[in-house]
Parts: sequence; structure tokens; C-alpha cells
Amino acid sequence: MSRMEPMELPHEAVHLFEDARTGLRAVIAIHSTALGPAAGGCRVWHYAADSAATGDALRLSEGMTYKNAMAGLPLGGGKAVIMLPADFDGDRRALFKAFGRCVESLQGRYVTAEDVGSTVEDMLSVAAATDHVAGLPQTRSGQAGGDPSPHTAQGVFLAMQVAAERKFGTPLKDTVVGVQGLGNVGMALAAKLSHAGAKLLVSDMNERRVAQAVHMFGAQQVAPEKIVGAPMDILAPCAMGAIVNHATIGSIQARIICGAANNQLETPARGAELARRGIFYAPDYLVNAGGIISVCAEYLGESLESVERRVAEIGPRLGRMIDEAERSGEAMNLVADRHARQIVADGRARRKAA
Ligand code: NAI
Repeated sequence: MSRMEPMELPHEAVHLFEDARTGLRAVIAIHSTALGPAAGGCRVWHYAADSAATGDALRLSEGMTYKNAMAGLPLGGGKAVIMLPADFDGDRRALFKAFGRCVESLQGRYVTAEDVGSTVEDMLSVAAATDHVAGLPQTRSGQAGGDPSPHTAQGVFLAMQVAAERKFGTPLKDTVVGVQGLGNVGMALAAKLSHAGAKLLVSDMNERRVAQAVHMFGAQQVAPEKIVGAPMDILAPCAMGAIVNHATIGSIQARIICGAANNQLETPARGAELARRGIFYAPDYLVNAGGIISVCAEYLGESLESVERRVAEIGPRLGRMIDEAERSGEAMNLVADRHARQIVADGRARRKAA
């Protein structure tokens, strides 16, 4: 996972949990509750060291603060990681129920949902122990809920349309887009791009998913180690973070980077470097907010229509950030960070005044 930068806003709390009976080992990082309960998914990963898991939770929870603030949600930022050994052969349901008890012990300061490595099924197990969980199956039609990935894909797609119009002056049908990672979000995004007429390059370690995209969308397969540097107009990172790093940055031929993966920049300084190289970077947490928008609406009992309305705001919001970056000459990630921090600071001031 990527290196950590000094943080501008300190974390409020970091909780470590162990449950010997189920084998659960988890970290819940609460970065900020200035705007509401700290919300962010639960990542399940095989970590080489505990420090790597904690580092991931710290970094990802801070990203959630910015993402939720920027999306205008009444939520702060948090994240959980479950350290799962590669050879785990215990009872997964019991493990997630135990994790639910950990969430419950925080009395609503943290709200969990799916992330990489966890599923709707897992969240149902969590829900056996706490109400502070979302990403559960829809209970009524018209109500928010269920897999948040389609909303994430929709937000990324809308943002990409704006980026292509502003940077190339063309619709997506005139572009070549490389999708790295054909998971829940990447595959849905590839379907939307194909429908819009874009030419697709696709990459995943999962051969079956690649074959599916080649078959369904006429996409061209690219090896996982080649996708970041392949010739294309737009790179859509939809796998893991830190793909814009010291080793890859010089090889990027795309002129736009716009995708769902969290923490795409190895460090904030890589954002400035991309700008210097003439590569437009759409801030990850701005464009991939569709999932948390859905999770938030579900948690608050809101409608699916309210989710769609908020997701539709992602494109225009990116447009406003582009205007500001053009005016100020700053890198896009720095403009977005400044906005998000201001929203959090305003929320904190309002709370103090209340
Ligand atoms: P997923 O786990 O369903 O899919 C990830 C895919 O990437 C898998 O198919 C995996 O095989 C592939 N992959 C991993 N490393 C790769 C590599 N080096 N090259 C090519 N493919 C690789 O995850 P999901 O839900 O689609 O999320 C994708 C990214 O978007 C993650 O970073 C996640 O944190 C982020 N995200 C997801 C949201 C959601 O609603 N699911 C919301 C916001 C962010």
C-alpha cells in the first residue's frame, strides 16, 4: 500500500479490536465526526504487518472525510480494515458478526458498509450485531440500498464525460478509455462507456472478467502490468490505490485520469507532477462518491431518487473544480483538498457555535 503524507487534519480516534474466538483482528479509524457520524466501508485484506493495516485505515478514513464533505453529505470520515490471514478457514459469518459488535461498541460514531474484500452478505452478518451498517439489500423498491457500486460507476462516468468535454472538447465516443480492474465498479463503468461508444482497453488479473468484457464490449485486453502506460486518452483506475507513483508516472500516456479507485496518487505531490506533465487528474474522492451517496441515503432512510439526484451533481462539481484550477493554476487534487477541508472546518465551527 502507499506511503503516508503528513495530515492536515488529525484523526479523532483509532480503535484496535481482537476477538480470539472468531479470529477477528480489525482497525477502525475515525478521522472526523465534524459533519456527522464517521462513515466509510470495511476493507478486508491480507496485510503483511499490523502497521500496514493501521496505515491503510488512517489514510482511507481521511479520504472518506474529504469525500463525504465534498459530496455534501451529513457524514464524517471513517474506515475499518479487517486483517484476514490468507489461509483463514474460520466462520466468516461469525467473524463479521464479531466485527458488528466492534462497530456497535462505538455507539454510532462509525457507520460501516462494503469495501474491497467485503460483500452484501458480510454486511448482513454485521447487521446482526449493529444498526450502524449500510450496503444491505434494498427492502422496498424506490428506497436507497443494496450494492453501491452501480452508483459509483455512474458518478465516474458522468465525471469522465465532463473531463473529456473540457479537456478534449469531445464526447466519450471519440476517446479510447483504459479500465484497470473489472470488478463491481470497473465492469459497470466499462458497460456505460461501451454504450456511449468509447473504445475500450481493459485489464484484470481475473481472466474470466477480461474475457467477459472482450466479448460484451469488444474491448481490447491489456496485461495488468501494461495498462497504466498503454496508449489511450483516458485512464480509469478501478482496482487498488497508489497507481500514480514514482515508477508509473513517467509512463502514463493518457491525458485524463478519472476512475473509482481510492487514493490513486501515491502522494499529493504526484498531483502537481501530473499537472506539469499536462495530464488532467479528476480527484478520486470527488468522482467516486456515488457509492457513499447511496450508503448515506440508505442509512438515513432516503429514496433512490435522492441518490440519483446527488450522483448527477458529481459532473457539474468537477466542472467547478476545473474552473477554479484554471483560475488559480493549482493542481486539481490540491483545489479539491482545500475545498473539502474548508467544508469540514465550517462544519466544526457550526458545531462549536451550536
Ligand atoms: P472489486 O474488488 O470488485 O474489483 C477490483 C478488481 O480489480 C478485481 O476484479 C481485481 O481482480 C482487479 N485488480 C486488482 N489489482 C489489479 C491490477 N493490478 N490490475 C488490474 N486489475 C486488478 O472492487 P470494486 O468495488 O470494483 O472497487 C474498485 C475500486 O474502487 C477500489 O479501489 C475501491 O476502493 C474503489 N471504490 C469502490 C466503490 C464501490 O462502490 N464499490 C466506491 C468508491 C471507491
